[in-house]
Amino acid sequence: MNSPMTLYGAIPFMQAHKKDSTVGVFWLNAAETWIDIVKSKSSANPLSLGIGSHTDTQTHWFSESGLLDIFVFLGPTPKDVISSFSELTGHTQLPQQFAIAHHQCRWNYVTDEDVKDVDRKFDKAQIPYDVIWLDIEYTDGKKYFTWDPLTFPNPLDMQKQLDDHERKLVAIIDPHIKNEGGYSVVDELKSKDLATHNKDGNIYEGWCWPGSSYWVDCFSPAARKWWAQLFQYAKFKGSAHNLWLWNDMNEPSVFNGPETTMPKDNLHHGNWEHRDVHNLNGLTLVNATFEGLVARNKAEEKAGGVRPFVLTRSFFAGSQRMGAMWTGDNQADWEHLEASLPMVLSLGVSGFPFAGADVGGFFGNPSRELLTRWYQAGAFYPFFRAHAHIDTRRREPYLLPDLEKGIVTQALRLRYALLPAWYTAFHTASKTGAPIVQPMYYAHPGDEKGFAIDDQMYLGATGLLVKPVTKEGSTSVDVYLPDGEKYFDYSDYTSYSGPGHVKIEAPLEKIPLLMRGGHIVPRRDRPRRSSGLMKFDPFTLVVVLGNDGNAEGELYLDDGESYDYEQGAYIHRRFTYTGSTSSLASEDVSTKDKKTAQYLQQMKDVRVEKMVIVNAPSSWKGKTEVDVSEEGGSSSGESKKAGFGFVSGESGKADWAVVRNPGVSVGAGWKISFA
Ligand code: GLC
Repeated sequence: MNSPMTLYGAIPFMQAHKKDSTVGVFWLNAAETWIDIVKSKSSANPLSLGIGSHTDTQTHWFSESGLLDIFVFLGPTPKDVISSFSELTGHTQLPQQFAIAHHQCRWNYVTDEDVKDVDRKFDKAQIPYDVIWLDIEYTDGKKYFTWDPLTFPNPLDMQKQLDDHERKLVAIIDPHIKNEGGYSVVDELKSKDLATHNKDGNIYEGWCWPGSSYWVDCFSPAARKWWAQLFQYAKFKGSAHNLWLWNDMNEPSVFNGPETTMPKDNLHHGNWEHRDVHNLNGLTLVNATFEGLVARNKAEEKAGGVRPFVLTRSFFAGSQRMGAMWTGDNQADWEHLEASLPMVLSLGVSGFPFAGADVGGFFGNPSRELLTRWYQAGAFYPFFRAHAHIDTRRREPYLLPDLEKGIVTQALRLRYALLPAWYTAFHTASKTGAPIVQPMYYAHPGDEKGFAIDDQMYLGATGLLVKPVTKEGSTSVDVYLPDGEKYFDYSDYTSYSGPGHVKIEAPLEKIPLLMRGGHIVPRRDRPRRSSGLMKFDPFTLVVVLGNDGNAEGELYLDDGESYDYEQGAYIHRRFTYTGSTSSLASEDVSTKDKKTAQYLQQMKDVRVEKMVIVNAPSSWKGKTEVDVSEEGGSSSGESKKAGFGFVSGESGKADWAVVRNPGVSVGAGWKISFA
């Protein structure tokens, strides 16, 4: 069942999976919906949901209003079901690269100087981050699209400092508009009649952060148009091109409303009662914000503009087209860390893979151990943001004692090193709907033993399998290996064989992370302050040979910000290691278009600087060089040599080898021969 959040969002999409067979049901209804799930005692498999000959589980659906509008997806694999569901509801947006890097949030950074200071402290501690966030206190009295004149007198200067290191600012804008005379946003909302109405057809008034407020009605095309233009630089004064958006409280949250939301008989555009459309409300706001940012960005010098970033709390099927979501107000305790993994996995198989939980826990103060483990887990959330409630103590990672600070820094650097793999997984998600972090049943639909596992996951199709530690005091985890491939420890290449459970030592400094044989993982190893500064950094390929002696993987790369990729400005390579010929080759899988040549030219000096071959054949021992041939290289087709080293693994560790400086470009075709 994929209804991960009851509080903030709904994706009424159910999947039933048994060995080698998956079906899905999408109940297209945005009213309050209840689902009774009754499992019969004989139920052996918790995921077989009463479809076909299996009658272990019965589900009964009822919605308060609306008509029956149901889509059935027949699989047969989870990949088929999720890909057809995503065809219907939309693929996840391909985000800008910064959006999949590390975000630092808190309620609240209190002044523009505070923001600049936090920014400097990250640099001083050499901890990478891309985005710092402003919660509601930056505004002038909770009036969105304004800045507090005393605490944020110079927002442009603050954004400029961030921009100097390719960093961004995200500011919160909520849908409740303060009821205060002389505030131009509320004056226009009222005079243009763009707010939600009460049952009598008058403007609906309720309470939220600003006190008495009105709610913009983004079901109305005119309201969306109006909302969108509020993001123009001339309207949202003090906002710069590196400012992006956070839409919160968009369920909508109303402090004095029934069930902390709007009365169900409120009226939206077209006289729809709120009861009919409640679960869609949040999506409409994000849609309007997204449109506003598209329009704002088009005005930029870059023709075509850059891709918007919006984070939402409320969501429905389809919200994935506009940005990221997070799982809302969690608690700084171990149970909430543990629960975050099944939540993120569920969202991924529900078509909304760009998901994450507040790292560190929103309410309360995490212990050093909990915070450290949370960063290690967060490094594997597709959306990776630390956040904290206003009443908590400061906990930016540079404030940790040296031991934990070092460990958290390592986790963050790992996220940054693997950004090429993450970005490639996002690209796949944006084309096919495939989850970015994948549960066992998705990757191995025939392996019944993996069906109920929801605390370990693969990163896209990379074969990287992680099981974050989520138990206090734990120094090891049992990882389930689904098949007979070999799996290798990410950092020291210790070798494990499945199928079955294996114990991985996990002292505090260790994230249990394995590499499955048969995959090639792209990486960038130079530590930088932000992902924007990695744009022209060289790549490392980690080639993990499988039982059959082969491996393959891919890399998708573009400028990480514009829409130029839609006109061919990207690199998409497939890497294949073939055991029978002992060669590693890079093959082009892109479709050329009018901006391809220009992009390749721009990237021509970006090299693959290193290839690491894990599980290398022992016959390579003693070898000191390999042959490299590059497409379009010397006209005679003559090959050059690259340095090579072989290391014999000791005590349960795999043999591995390294190719040094092969001098090949990441965007070109090449072949390395180890024969
Ligand atoms: C809500 C959000 C939380 C935010 C707070 C203040 O509780 O979920 O993330 O910090 O509002 O804006």
